[in-house]
Amino acid sequence: MIEIKNLNKTYHLKSGDVEAAKNVSLTIDDGEIYGIIGYSGAGKSTLVRCVNLLEVPDSGEINVNGVQLTRMESTPKGEVLRKVSDKELNRARKGIGMIFQHFNLLDRSTVFDNIAYPLKYSGKSKTQIRERVHELLELVDLKDKENVYPSQLSGGQKQRVAIARALANNPGVLLSDEATSALDPEATESILNLLKKLNKQLGLTIVLITHEMTVIKTICSKVAVMENGAVVEQGDVYDIFAHPKQPVTKKFINTVSNLSKINRMIAENVPLVQLSGNDKLVKLIFENDCTGEAVISDISKRFDIKVNIVLANVEMIGDRPLGGIIVIFKGSDAAMDDAFKYLEKIKVGTEVLA
Ligand SMILES: Nc1ncnc2c1ncn2[C@@H]1O[C@H](COP(=O)(O)OP(=O)(O)O)[C@@H](O)[C@H]1O
Ligand SMILES: [Mg+2]
Repeated sequence: MIEIKNLNKTYHLKSGDVEAAKNVSLTIDDGEIYGIIGYSGAGKSTLVRCVNLLEVPDSGEINVNGVQLTRMESTPKGEVLRKVSDKELNRARKGIGMIFQHFNLLDRSTVFDNIAYPLKYSGKSKTQIRERVHELLELVDLKDKENVYPSQLSGGQKQRVAIARALANNPGVLLSDEATSALDPEATESILNLLKKLNKQLGLTIVLITHEMTVIKTICSKVAVMENGAVVEQGDVYDIFAHPKQPVTKKFINTVSNLSKINRMIAENVPLVQLSGNDKLVKLIFENDCTGEAVISDISKRFDIKVNIVLANVEMIGDRPLGGIIVIFKGSDAAMDDAFKYLEKIKVGTEVLA
């Protein structure tokens, strides 16, 4: 388990202070794939680098796999940060692997040597190291590449080597900082599939930083949204997709949802979305099923309103469907009120867009 409590980190630059992490608290359970999403500069890398103390926070508690890496202690001078000893930190770091956007491989070493590198001081014999590297090569599906150099590999293959290296010492946690951001869509998909497999097969806990909502949607079960150094929203990925609260979260969801086409349709005032009288343009959200059409005919029968469908879509979040329909309601205020109350009662989410 990873527990972060009230973590703060400010960089002091000549041009002024940058608060890269502001009172961040997160709990990541064992075996979870936990996404952290935010725009560039939001503080994602700073936060994840604090998890293995590559970056030392100014204040806050960090606990990884039961080891308290930092804690706050009351002293006569006030609260001060205490770190674990270097020896304990080194031991704790063996339990935390990390991968990066640009792979960070040793270009002058073969794939074999890159993966064997973290095993150098593990007390293993040459034979044991060879066996372990072969196991890892098999795990990441690169058995035929042990003697080639990184420059001879594709981006996706380089990331596989980096993953094998990160897992050499059997860590329980893998930190992934934009690991697919330099890859094309196909390589991205294959790396995400590999991470999913490692999560299942090894029970690996993965903390996955990204600026792409499609990555979150594909493999994460939980997500935290960061903005200006703060976590502004966090929870189950499905719930966040169904009920986003913060504007930044809605923006990220719009990047992957077909329903976001409505924004352009409104901006361009296309005839389909032109409203008259007290018409309302409404987004309806259906959780766990795709029975939206039935609900719509139900509403127009029960209440004195007309419903025109503008857009409809079913999104798969992990393996659960999330239905969405954008409609225009036409009718009196009273009839619409009744319809909204009814929709709330049958647990259909509503958002009035215009
Ligand atoms: N080593 C550093 N020194 C000074 N400022 C930094 C350093 N690392 C990050 N920052 C600043 O902290 C903020 C958060 O950066 P970062 O954690 O890299 O965000 P992200 O990974 O979300 O892009 C940015 O404004 C960045 O410029
Ligand atoms: Mg970053």
